[in-house]
Amino acid sequence: MDIAVHDLKTRNGCLGDVDTIADILNAAFQLEKRPEKQASARRLANHHFSEFLLLEDAGVTVGVAHIAPQWLQVGREAILKGDVGHVGVRPDRQGTGHGTRLLEACISTMHARGMHMSRLGGLMRFYRRFGYEPFPRRLIRIPVEPMAAVLKGRTWAEILALPPEQAQRVRPYHPARDYRAKHALLVAFNDGRSGAARTPDAPGDAPTAGPDDEGLEIVYEQDGVIRGYLRGALALVHARAPTPTYCVNTFAYDPQTPEACGALLKIFIRRAASIAPTAITARFPFDERVFADINAANIRFEAVELRQGADGNMVQVINLPALLEAISPELEHRIADAAPAPWTGHVRFVLPGQEAGLSVSPGGISTGATPENAVTVKTGHSTFLKWVFGISGFAEFADAGLGLTPPQHQLLATLFPRRPCASGVWG
Ligand SMILES: CC(C)(COP(=O)(O)OP(=O)(O)OC[C@H]1O[C@@H](n2cnc3c(N)ncnc32)[C@H](O)[C@@H]1OP(=O)(O)O)[C@@H](O)C(=O)NCCC(=O)NCCS
Repeated sequence: MDIAVHDLKTRNGCLGDVDTIADILNAAFQLEKRPEKQASARRLANHHFSEFLLLEDAGVTVGVAHIAPQWLQVGREAILKGDVGHVGVRPDRQGTGHGTRLLEACISTMHARGMHMSRLGGLMRFYRRFGYEPFPRRLIRIPVEPMAAVLKGRTWAEILALPPEQAQRVRPYHPARDYRAKHALLVAFNDGRSGAARTPDAPGDAPTAGPDDEGLEIVYEQDGVIRGYLRGALALVHARAPTPTYCVNTFAYDPQTPEACGALLKIFIRRAASIAPTAITARFPFDERVFADINAANIRFEAVELRQGADGNMVQVINLPALLEAISPELEHRIADAAPAPWTGHVRFVLPGQEAGLSVSPGGISTGATPENAVTVKTGHSTFLKWVFGISGFAEFADAGLGLTPPQHQLLATLFPRRPCASGVWG
């Protein structure tokens, strides 16, 4: 492709750019044909203009990209992800290198904004050029049967019936009364859970809205204490897809009250079945304990891990030294829990375009420069980030030609085990 010569500059968006951002997104994505998307693009520009990056050619804005910051937990620590989306170039300027320039600027902007990693979804052929690598997505799919359908002699209405004492514990969520309890439940449910979005420390101000009459936001209350919370959408989301699906957006429960999990889900499934029996998707953690609590309530589901090709989820590390530094207290905990450390010494992680060192000593972990004789772990961005979140563990990759001794291998397996990781926020 010929790259034409332009007078190109990028800059961060400001309040005066709201209309320009909305106009470019309208034109690039042809949003006039999709009024809902058009409205949501304008809302995004209105509320988050400063997160946009603008590409200007001789002072005229020709492209925009949105970079949403989001903290993701890695055990008890967190790393900052830049979620890139709404990448659009004015149609009359497409195909002349502007998109390329915009993406390159996104990467350096994320570095400057202190981001450790980035995620986006899109055409892999295009985004691969900027260092992104394919990454899985995970979700739970709960098939919704007609309640009159029969399985081994019992109707689904019978299978999904709630014991009366459980049924009376489910009630609509009341925003003003319940928001503190909901916040505490979410914090506890995701405490130390890798891959989860970091819940703010404080619940914020009391909401002013009243109870949700639709009953799509429900709680499980026992002895005056809220032990479970579920918020889900029962409008036919993806209405144009061949099979419409409903989704659970937020879910948490107290593991000491595992029946809260099944009770809330059963209410939601029965409500979905009464509208149209199709399926529910939910971004639940891939956590054996949660899976067992769902099954214990007679609910069947599929744990889906998508491995997309051509078009899909992609990630890359933006700043490897800063990422390692951010997670080093968590890595130190892991080593301390496995004391004594299986091996001490220096490890150099080498990813395409980046490298960073980690030193393990009896006193703990430090990051920074490593000596020449450091053990080298050379891998891809996607594999490294799977280790970081525990989507899969280091041990699952065998030695991958790294030439490690068994104690070195064991150290890395201790640092990066598979974890009951949250879903959704990274893919
Ligand atoms: C995608 C887009 C931002 C690229 O900008 P551009 O200025 O045309 O990009 P460049 O000239 O630097 O490079 C062109 C490359 O864009 C790629 N591209 C075209 N449409 C694309 C799309 N929908 N998503 C991702 N990449 C795309 C092509 O692969 C092309 O690569 P090639 O060199 O192999 O032909 C621009 O075409 C656009 O705004 N498209 C409409 C909105 C959109 O689909 N955004 C991406 C959502 S994932």
